Amino acid sequence: MNFKFLELKKEESIAIVSFNREKALNALNSAMLDEISDMTKLLKNDEEVNVVIFTGKGKAFIAGADISEMEKLNSFEGMAFGKKGSEVFTMIENLEKPTIAAINGYALGGGCEFAMACDIRLASSKAKFGQPEVGLGIIPGFSGTQRLPKLVGLAKAKELIFTGDIISSEEAKSIGLITYIYEADELMENAKTLAKKISKNAQLAVRNAKRSINEGFNKDMVSASSIEATYFGMCFSSEDQKNGMKAFLNKEKVKFITK
Ligand code: CAA
Repeated sequence: MNFKFLELKKEESIAIVSFNREKALNALNSAMLDEISDMTKLLKNDEEVNVVIFTGKGKAFIAGADISEMEKLNSFEGMAFGKKGSEVFTMIENLEKPTIAAINGYALGGGCEFAMACDIRLASSKAKFGQPEVGLGIIPGFSGTQRLPKLVGLAKAKELIFTGDIISSEEAKSIGLITYIYEADELMENAKTLAKKISKNAQLAVRNAKRSINEGFNKDMVSASSIEATYFGMCFSSEDQKNGMKAFLNKEKVKFITK
């Protein structure tokens, strides 16, 4: 598969996907959304890949949806563009492999929304975050009105969305939008270290944990616990569970094999 706006590198079991539209600060146009969708399918089916890191080339992670493409849209086209972006981001959220956003710079509008669709967010000390859409006469359209309140709480999400304020990595960390901040030149190494740590564990278990968390998140405790029980049970049919537990009891090291 050929990609114009994305670059894929693989380092052992880690895939690193870089947004590669540097001149437009990696702004998301329709073609790039299509590529992200194709890339997600590719990574899902790539048995070598356990964990995916997303980052941006240049000074932006993603500076939002492409304003020059949106400028001409009517109401129906706007709705279709929003739906498309939201569907692609939901694919990312539900990609069975863990995803890490290594946020190197601007993560604004659709860029902040993309990062929120990832499982874990790490950022450079130079990164900037915000949902500045109301300053353009629109609202966040790639599910930002839904994911931001879940991550930072209703009041802070409303403040950020209503003001369009751009915040620093420090503030983003203090409100729970990101978990770690690194110096710019240390961001990728730390993202890779985290990815490798996840990659060493039993992948079927990691994937079942992700499914259980995502599917249970908006459910009541009884339903969510029942979802968890199903995925917990599924783990017991894997060789990794047999080998992992036997190794623990025999005080040996284990190498997980299930893909
Ligand atoms: N869409 C299209 N092009 C964009 C863009 C975007 N979101 N963000 C930046 N660019 C382009 C600029 O137009 C500029 O292009 P030219 O060189 O052809 O003029 C180039 O990228 C470099 O940008 P700047 O010159 O503006 O760079 P800067 O360093 O001075 O400023 C910035 C950086 C503060 C991020 C500024 O570019 C900016 O404010 N960008 C827009 C941010 C924004 O409003 N994002 C939300 C978009 S709406 C959205 O995302 C909706 C949604 O939820 C789906």
